[in-house]
Amino acid sequence: MSPFLEGNSCVVGLQWGDEGKGKIVDFLTEHADVVVRYCGGANAGHTVRIGSEKYATNLLPVGVFRPGVMSLIGNGVVIDPARLIEEIDDLTKRGVPISPQNLRISYKAHLVMPYHKQEDAARESASGDKGIGTTRRGIGPAYADKMQRSTAIRVADLAHEDKLRERVGRIVAERNKLLKALYDAPPVDWKQVFEDYRDYGRRLQPYVDDVGHLLIGYWREGKRIVFEGAHAVLLDVDHGTYPYVTSSNCSALGLYTGAGVPPQSVQNFVGIMKAYSTRVGGGPFPTEQDNDIGQYIRERGNEYGTTTRRPRRCGWFDALAVRYSVELCGITQIALTLLDVLSGLDHIKVCTGYRHKGQRLDYFRADMDVLAEVEPIYETLPGWGGNITGARAFHELPREAQQYVKTLEQLAGAPIRIVSVGADRNATLLR
Ligand code: IMP
Repeated sequence: MSPFLEGNSCVVGLQWGDEGKGKIVDFLTEHADVVVRYCGGANAGHTVRIGSEKYATNLLPVGVFRPGVMSLIGNGVVIDPARLIEEIDDLTKRGVPISPQNLRISYKAHLVMPYHKQEDAARESASGDKGIGTTRRGIGPAYADKMQRSTAIRVADLAHEDKLRERVGRIVAERNKLLKALYDAPPVDWKQVFEDYRDYGRRLQPYVDDVGHLLIGYWREGKRIVFEGAHAVLLDVDHGTYPYVTSSNCSALGLYTGAGVPPQSVQNFVGIMKAYSTRVGGGPFPTEQDNDIGQYIRERGNEYGTTTRRPRRCGWFDALAVRYSVELCGITQIALTLLDVLSGLDHIKVCTGYRHKGQRLDYFRADMDVLAEVEPIYETLPGWGGNITGARAFHELPREAQQYVKTLEQLAGAPIRIVSVGADRNATLLR
């Protein structure tokens, strides 16, 4: 852990995802012993740049990029085993070795099955513009089966091949009927699914462990643990902008159930926010700039999905949304990312309130009907010119950029301790 962070830390996105968490978790793991993913699945995309190499992971915790760090996938994650094996093989081929020495997977984690992806895609296509705009990675249906219980398959089930065969046969037969009736979908071949998952199970068996138990042990030994959030607070199934959310508890609150640790085990809650707002998929987005400003941000920030390459919707910083996330998660420090993207704008707007039905709203209501109707109230700040990616200390930033950071800090309600001004590991300023 970096010197200013003693104890264990959770890192979580404060907006709608894609805040550059991969880079900050990677930065914070320099002195960490353990990194844990606790929510989501292969719908997440974390990008890490090391020197001239760029890596993107969907399921693997970013601890795998640090030699000597143990990476854990907690029970709260839904695992697509084909994707996980592909990631392990790809990274190993590129010289990032992954083995049971540095990766363990919870036996309690649930599996994403081929019919989950089929259902996700079929429902989205059938919904047209009323869809959620999912990544079509089968996330919603996999979590739905987890809650349903009798139709779920967990990592632990892969170790019992006879039972797995029976379970897959029964579940696929039922699912085929449903998918045919609802979407006229072609049937899934249960035998093929069984054989594929049996093989994945054999391949992953050495990695399977009791992650919660391991974590309690690491905590007792005083090892430094980083809980790596995926997605972001406003995509949390309970606290985000429902229904335009993902299906897991991806705010910091999800770490306890998703990793299997008690609240006392975490001391720092590091929120990541970018210097503006983006969102992918549907749902209200009060500060959206569907214009030249949005396009400027999209191109400079390369705001295209890591997982799906979809262009992201871009807009001004929304202080109400971020403050909500800071309060919900008890954020103790903030890392501000992508400040360099805003260079070159004459002035920059920040949303400091909403107007709703003639009244001023000073707090964020994660209620899509309210959010769809609000009108943002902006404060306008001066922009700055030039390239700031070479700055290595806060005082090296243009005065206007420093002022912008200080304004965001005051509005967000927690200290900004890290400012990222470029994709590289070194383009990171500490305050
Ligand atoms: P799902 O998680 O694939 O079901 O997608 C639900 C919603 O969450 C969609 O709007 C996605 O675009 C969004 N979403 C899911 N994961 C991420 C992420 O990591 N970053 C940004 N948006 C995400």
